[in-house]
Amino acid sequence: MVEIWIDGDRVEAEENQTVMQAARASGHVIPYFCWHPALSVPGNCRICMVEIEGDGAAAGWLDIACNMPVAKGMRVLTDSPRVRARRQQMLQMITLNHPVDCGICDKAGECTLQDYHYQYNGAPSVSRDAKVRATKHHALSERIVLDNERCILCSRCVRFTREISKSDGLGIQDRGDHSLVRAVEDGAFDRDPYSDNVIDICPVGALLSRPFLHKARVWYLEPTRSVCPGCERGCSVEIWHRRKSWKLNRLDPAANARIDRVTPLDNPAVNGPWICNKGRDLAQVFERPRATEALLKGLPADPETALERARALIGAARRPVALVSSWASNEELAAFDAALGARFTCYVKTDRLPEPGERIEDDLLIKPDKNPNRTGARALYPAQPADTGRALPADCDLVLVWGEGCNLKALPPAAKTIHLDAWLKPDNDRADVFLPISVQTERSGHYTNFAGVVSRFDKCFDKPTGVADAEALFAALLQPVLLAAS
Ligand code: SF4
Ligand code: SF4
Ligand code: FES
Repeated sequence: MVEIWIDGDRVEAEENQTVMQAARASGHVIPYFCWHPALSVPGNCRICMVEIEGDGAAAGWLDIACNMPVAKGMRVLTDSPRVRARRQQMLQMITLNHPVDCGICDKAGECTLQDYHYQYNGAPSVSRDAKVRATKHHALSERIVLDNERCILCSRCVRFTREISKSDGLGIQDRGDHSLVRAVEDGAFDRDPYSDNVIDICPVGALLSRPFLHKARVWYLEPTRSVCPGCERGCSVEIWHRRKSWKLNRLDPAANARIDRVTPLDNPAVNGPWICNKGRDLAQVFERPRATEALLKGLPADPETALERARALIGAARRPVALVSSWASNEELAAFDAALGARFTCYVKTDRLPEPGERIEDDLLIKPDKNPNRTGARALYPAQPADTGRALPADCDLVLVWGEGCNLKALPPAAKTIHLDAWLKPDNDRADVFLPISVQTERSGHYTNFAGVVSRFDKCFDKPTGVADAEALFAALLQPVLLAAS
C-alpha cells in the first residue's frame, strides 16, 4: 500500500492505482469524460486535472488524475483555485463547437457535460467565431443515431468496440474540429450484439437510441431493478418506466405501464457494466399481447370455475406429468413444489429457443440457454427428456404445462391439459383448462443464473385484470382459495 494525501485526507492506495482510482475508492470526486473504469486510458479530455502540491522549494504542477500513478507521500488537490481555473478552460474548449441543444437532447438530466459546465464554467462561450457545424442525425447503425455536433471526441465508443465487444465497429475519421465518429464500412457495428452500450457510456448526448429517441425526458422516468431473462447469464438491469408522479392522465394510459428503456445495472458478479442488445429489447418480450381470461376448452370461464375444474383434473389423474417453466422464479418454483410437486412427475421444460440470427454464445456475456432460471428449476426437477415418449408416456392422463415452449398438439391425445401462460396464443384454446398468469415485470422474485448467482427482480407494473400470479394459483390449486384474493 502507498500512503498519499488527497485534499488533506490520508489515503491508503494500492501500488498500481492511478490518482483517479485512489480518489474514487476513498470517496473523493474528480470529474472525467474520456476515462471509464472498464476501458483503456486515452487521457484526451483533460477535465480530470488535479494539482500535485510541491515539496519544499519544488513547485507544484497540474496533471491528469486518470493517467497519473500514485506515489508515496504524494499530495493531491482536487478542487484548488488552479484546478478550477484549468477545468474552466477545458470546458470552454470542449463547448466551443458544442451546440446548445440541452432543451431537445435525450441526454439532458444525465449528461456530465451539462453537470460539469454548471459546476466549473457556467460562463457564456468565449469564442468570437461561429460554431463549426457537423452532421446532426447520422445513422450510425439500425439502432443508434449520432449527433456529431454534440460529440466531444472522448473516444469511449471507439474503445468499447475495440476492447470490450471486439467488433472494431467504430473509428474516428479526419482531424481537428472536422473529426467524426463513423461506423466501419463492412457493417461490423450493425452486427455488434453489444453496440448499444456506447449509448450509455457516451458522456454527452451524441449517441442516441433510436427506439428511445425523443420518447421521454429522463426525469419523467424511474428505474426498477430487474434481471434480463434473455439468457442464462441473467444480467442485472434497470427497467425504466414512467414515474407515478408524472403519470399521463389524458393521453394513452398504456404509456404509464410500458418499458421505456432498459439499461445495465453494474454487477461485477454477473455482467459488469454491460448488457447485450437483446437485454435492451425486453419490451418486445413483455409487451406481446396478453392472455387475460381463464378458458375451459377455449371458452371463457370465470377464474374460480376454471380453478375448480383444474382441481378436479388433478384429483382424478393417475399419472400426471408437469412441464415446469425455465422462466419461473425461485419463489414460484418453491410454491409449485410445496403445492403440487409430490403429485406430479415433474420435468423442466425449455420455454424459449434462440431467435433466428441471434448470437448463441460468446466469451463476453451471451450464453446458449435462452431461459433465465433453468438452474433454479433443475435444482428441483430433472430436465425434460428429448424423447417425448419418456417424459409423456401414452398412459399419462394429465399434463400441466407451465409457460411457453410446449406444442400442445404434440401431447398424448388421451391426456387432459392444464396450461398456465401469460401470452395470447391459439394453443391456449386447446387446453382443458387455461389459466392466465403474470409476467416478470408484474411481480418480484429471484433467478439463479448458470453460475449459481441469485439475482433479484422487482415489480414494475400492476398485472392486468383477470391475471393471477402463478404462486397464488398453485396454492389455490391445492386448496379452494378464491383466485380473487391473489
Ligand atoms: S460519440 Fe460520444 S462516446 Fe463517442 S467519441 Fe463522441 S462523445 Fe465520446
Ligand atoms: S447476455 Fe443474456 S442476460 Fe445478459 S443482456 Fe444479453 S440476453 Fe440478457
Ligand atoms: S478523464 Fe482524464 S483526461 Fe479525460
